[in-house]
Amino acid sequence: MRILVGITGGIAAYKSPQLVRLLRKAGHEVQCVATRHALQFVTPLTLETVSGRRLYADLFADGNDHTTEHISLKDWGEIMVVAPATANIIGKLAGGIADDALSALLLAFTGKPLYLAPAMNTQMWENPAVQRNLARLEADGVHIIPPASGSLACGTEGIGRMPEPEEIMEHLELKVENPTTQTNSQFPTTHSELPKVLVTAGPTYEKIDAVRFIGNYSSGKMGFALAEALAKKGFAVELVAGPTACRTTHPAIHRTDVESAREMYAAATALFPSCQAAILAAAVADYRPAQTADHKLKKQGDSGMTLELVQNPDILATLGQMKQKGQRLIGFALETDHEADNALAKLERKRLDYIILNSLRDEGSGFGVDTNRVTIFGSDGSRHTSPLLSKAEVAELIVARCLA
Ligand code: PMT
Repeated sequence: MRILVGITGGIAAYKSPQLVRLLRKAGHEVQCVATRHALQFVTPLTLETVSGRRLYADLFADGNDHTTEHISLKDWGEIMVVAPATANIIGKLAGGIADDALSALLLAFTGKPLYLAPAMNTQMWENPAVQRNLARLEADGVHIIPPASGSLACGTEGIGRMPEPEEIMEHLELKVENPTTQTNSQFPTTHSELPKVLVTAGPTYEKIDAVRFIGNYSSGKMGFALAEALAKKGFAVELVAGPTACRTTHPAIHRTDVESAREMYAAATALFPSCQAAILAAAVADYRPAQTADHKLKKQGDSGMTLELVQNPDILATLGQMKQKGQRLIGFALETDHEADNALAKLERKRLDYIILNSLRDEGSGFGVDTNRVTIFGSDGSRHTSPLLSKAEVAELIVARCLA
């Protein structure tokens, strides 16, 4: 494949030659296009050596056909990736500005896959202007490779690091859909929509043998109502659902189906770093059988049977540990006694911003039904109790109070 690699002026540009090297090693032809600022971080000689082609960096350089070089390059390239993509190039492309070689090429490069790997300081990444530009570009069909979290060049920790070249390669070649995920529409499955919220819903099933499991009565209705309410409010939703008959309708919901707590844990922890918030409404089994049989267990005479259980990972507590500045974490508490005390203990222990208490002692609340009555406790000491409402209305209330 013929790949255009754009490089802009961020410290992560030091990784760009490695990306080019890997692409070439995988048998692709690569043309580098750099901004003036990128060349403060990486030299033309390096880029020309690894790509084996003359660097394109100046619209008016000697030897260029000044008016059509970017047009012939956009015809040449089959896909294009900008790594790193600074806030500046993201803003220029979102605004349709073409004032140098790379931005002119980007504007001309239409109708073919275009990937951006943003890299910047966390505050810049979280700036509403950058998020607006990214949302605009995604709506235009540009694929955004989510930045990673970790220590940044500015000495702080947070989201904004350019993924490693190997990871970027995976994004570029991610043509095969994960069989356990379904998308409701043309909505992309491999890139983040912003702002994005993770929701867990439904029960988990913990396998005992080929035909039996430990489960619970969760129908998924509360979590799915939250996903719909979030999507209606303009969020992209990553919904991780246990076994449920519920269906989604909004195209901004991307659903990943799982069965066990450990599968839900793997999906939720992988998705959380690219989300601004997470609301965990799933009823996750705290324990699973220590052993599972791949055949149907047979009755053993008249004697009883003892199942040994081991603890499952606590997804909410893990997300509490992973939580970065600016991310919001909202949990549920399903209680039968000492409701407020138990909920408040979970709020603190799991490092939550809000906890939504529902009690099985309230008629019409909890599992299976279409209604719920909740109390929303905030880590700021706030507390709000709803009347009995439909789960759709409760979901709207939660979104309004916790994500405003
Ligand atoms: O699905 P429905 O039929 O509509 O019912 C909705 C509901 C009653 C399931 C929902 O409103 C609800 O209360 N969900 C949380 C149920 C629960 O498991 O509560 P908990 O108090 O045991 O867990 C506390 C929190 O930790 C929850 O956010 C839960 O998702 C999370 N958790 C629990 C255990 C675990 N191993 N990992 C987790 O993430």
